[in-house]
Amino acid sequence: MPHYHHLGQIPDKRHTVYRNTNGELYAEELFGTEGFSGVSSLVYHLNPPTMVKDIEEPYSVEPEIALKKNLKNLSFQGFDLESKSDYMESRKVLFVNNDLHIGLASPMHSMENYFFKNSDGDELLFIHKGSGKLKTMFGGIPFKYGDYLIIPRGVIYQLEFDDKDNRLLFIESFSHIQTPARYKNKSGQYLEHSPYCERDFRLPQDLETNDSKGDFKIMIKKQGLIYPYTYASHPFDLVGWDGYNYPFAFSIHDFEPITGRIHMPPPIHQTFEGNNFVVCSFVPRLYDYHPDSVPSPYNHSNIDSDELLYYVDGDFMSRSSVIKGQITLHPGGIPHGPHPGAVERSIGKKETNELAVMIDPFYPVMITKDAMSIEVKDYYKSWLSEHKKD
Ligand SMILES: [Fe+2]
Repeated sequence: MPHYHHLGQIPDKRHTVYRNTNGELYAEELFGTEGFSGVSSLVYHLNPPTMVKDIEEPYSVEPEIALKKNLKNLSFQGFDLESKSDYMESRKVLFVNNDLHIGLASPMHSMENYFFKNSDGDELLFIHKGSGKLKTMFGGIPFKYGDYLIIPRGVIYQLEFDDKDNRLLFIESFSHIQTPARYKNKSGQYLEHSPYCERDFRLPQDLETNDSKGDFKIMIKKQGLIYPYTYASHPFDLVGWDGYNYPFAFSIHDFEPITGRIHMPPPIHQTFEGNNFVVCSFVPRLYDYHPDSVPSPYNHSNIDSDELLYYVDGDFMSRSSVIKGQITLHPGGIPHGPHPGAVERSIGKKETNELAVMIDPFYPVMITKDAMSIEVKDYYKSWLSEHKKD
């Protein structure tokens, strides 16, 4: 969470009488984490958030695992995943471990007839293609190409798209998604060396206070099942809220790269983290400026971490032929590095326009059937000879 925020009208003191102009009490709710000890927001509903009318049979969205164990460099063409009309139908989990699920979605239409709530984990949505508005109980956040949307678990939301061509990378994190502690001082303020600060976060705005009654379907994900709940009042009915637990957006284009005289390691690209994983942003930047520097990364052994790279845009310096939406998975345990010719090509180059998102899960990921359906065959042999650059 970036920092304290509030929208709408709230009483001067928490847990005190708060009524509308007709004298009716608003329904106060603590939207909290970690058993009243973690971050929270206090929200004030027009109607109690407890008016359940119906619960239909839950159904499973548990990913089907194709490879439980893997020690092979693999690659996948993300844009080969079929677009689907519906957002939830389009979400395809590709990689799984106990800390996070990683997937892609290509929905063609806005969510109109239902809302979604992930009670399993915090969500990170990276917008590769498309624009629109994230609508939540805390207010709306317009989004566009390059945005990370961080949606804490339990936030009820809808995605409204401007058109049909949408491509999203997503993470479901079973721990809270946070920004690295080393970027912040002891009061939580971003330090001068941080690659972003408070001004770069886009917080909810335009609080919607909807007093509609009727049937409101909220698809709630818990333990790999979707429970179709029907509530009697509209979930976006807050008159006000304040606190630290709310969704926000951060654009990868606002990540200020840290550069040096010689090659800087991936932690300088770190953007977010959860338990046992980090998310890094590789953005256009000037190359290293030592006269003999080698801008290309060196071969490296991820001895205790898998490494997933999602290619967004630009010409990726260390790879010979990757295209937008492609994913590489370099499992912990074997070294990997630049493709043949990439090191030599990088020498003397002044800048890169690469744009990519890296996710490093510290424990091995299992690979789903949906992932294997878009596998690039024999990627693990791609270091044997020089490939022509696309
Ligand atoms: Fe790597």
